Amino acid sequence: MHAIPASVSPETASDRPLLAVLRGERRDPPPVWLMRQAGRYLPEYRALREAKGGFLAMCYDPATAAEITLQPIRRFGFDGAILFSDILVIPHALGQDLWFEAGEGPRLAPPLLDGDFSMLRQAIGRLDPVYETVRHVVADLPAGTTMLGFAGSPWTVATYMVAGAGSKDQGAARRLAYRDPVAFQRLMDLIVGATVEYLIGQIDAGVMAIQLFDSWAGSLAPDEFRRWVISPNRAIVDAVRARQPAAVIIGFPKGIGEKLPVYARETGVDAVGLDETIDPVWANDALPGDLPVQGNLDPLALVAGGSALERAVGTIRAALATRPHIFNLGHGILPETPVSHVEQLLAMLRR
Ligand code: CP3
Repeated sequence: MHAIPASVSPETASDRPLLAVLRGERRDPPPVWLMRQAGRYLPEYRALREAKGGFLAMCYDPATAAEITLQPIRRFGFDGAILFSDILVIPHALGQDLWFEAGEGPRLAPPLLDGDFSMLRQAIGRLDPVYETVRHVVADLPAGTTMLGFAGSPWTVATYMVAGAGSKDQGAARRLAYRDPVAFQRLMDLIVGATVEYLIGQIDAGVMAIQLFDSWAGSLAPDEFRRWVISPNRAIVDAVRARQPAAVIIGFPKGIGEKLPVYARETGVDAVGLDETIDPVWANDALPGDLPVQGNLDPLALVAGGSALERAVGTIRAALATRPHIFNLGHGILPETPVSHVEQLLAMLRR
């Protein structure tokens, strides 16, 4: 029998370790969630995708998207549930066509290569289903789980909007930003405005923290980085906090290496995500001691499992042993990851 002791207050009973760490507490073991934790490595996701016919349709179907959000929570009991959606719903809501080419990735049409953005709407439409998903998830969320919302950061979203697809070097957007910075700034302002509305909509619907994914922040030269990564992320943080002062914001600027301290300081995010190329010992020295840090297991170490996984997890935990730390991957979980390795990871963390 496990009677609940009388000393457990409602506050303790609804304690959310991930949210506590994001607010600056240290917890042992660290709370854990995995980027892309809902997705193709899970048989229950693949089955649902087969039945529902297509990724984007699932993103706009609140009951299905909520179910997918909760699949990894039910299976693994992660501390965070991340909204099932995509960063590219923002360009879609601004008026570009969006589809996913099997085996290749996203396509946006028309591409915006020439700096003419007249086809874009000035405000977002059709994202109500996403907020509805959040309400569904929150209604079914276990008491200790933190509901995470997200958006892409403007630079990363712009790289897809300009090229009309993913690219190795984000060359199309980088070229446009050099050739016509005034036009590019207009595009960024449009994305910032839409993203703020979108995040406020998610918060109003019940998300408890948000993550800004800047997956391509690492492709910019230093001055361009300040202009297209620091400034727009700062603008989003300020605008969201102006309307929701208690908003908790994680910044994940992938690939920026030594620019991480300046990113953390100048954007004003509450926590930073480290990608797997960052040495956590360096990050621990370089970042303010009270700044919560998230990361940064190599997704391939999780694919490998066994003693390689054991070693990698030990290195990260030792490096971040004295600061608020949320355990996560350095980037999204890979579709070939064995479910048993995720179980192994959780057993290691909770041992
Ligand atoms: O983390 C989560 O589980 C929440 C959901 C989520 C998805 N995409 C679902 C998804 C999140 C947070 C994203 C973010 C995202 N989407 C980013 C930033 C993070 C990163 O990975 O760099 C980017 C760049 C995208 C754009 C995108 N969406 C690409 C390039 C692709 C195709 C590549 C791929 O993995 O297939 C997607 C599709 C996508 N987004 C899938 C999922 C589960 C796969 C869809 C499927 O085939 O079932």
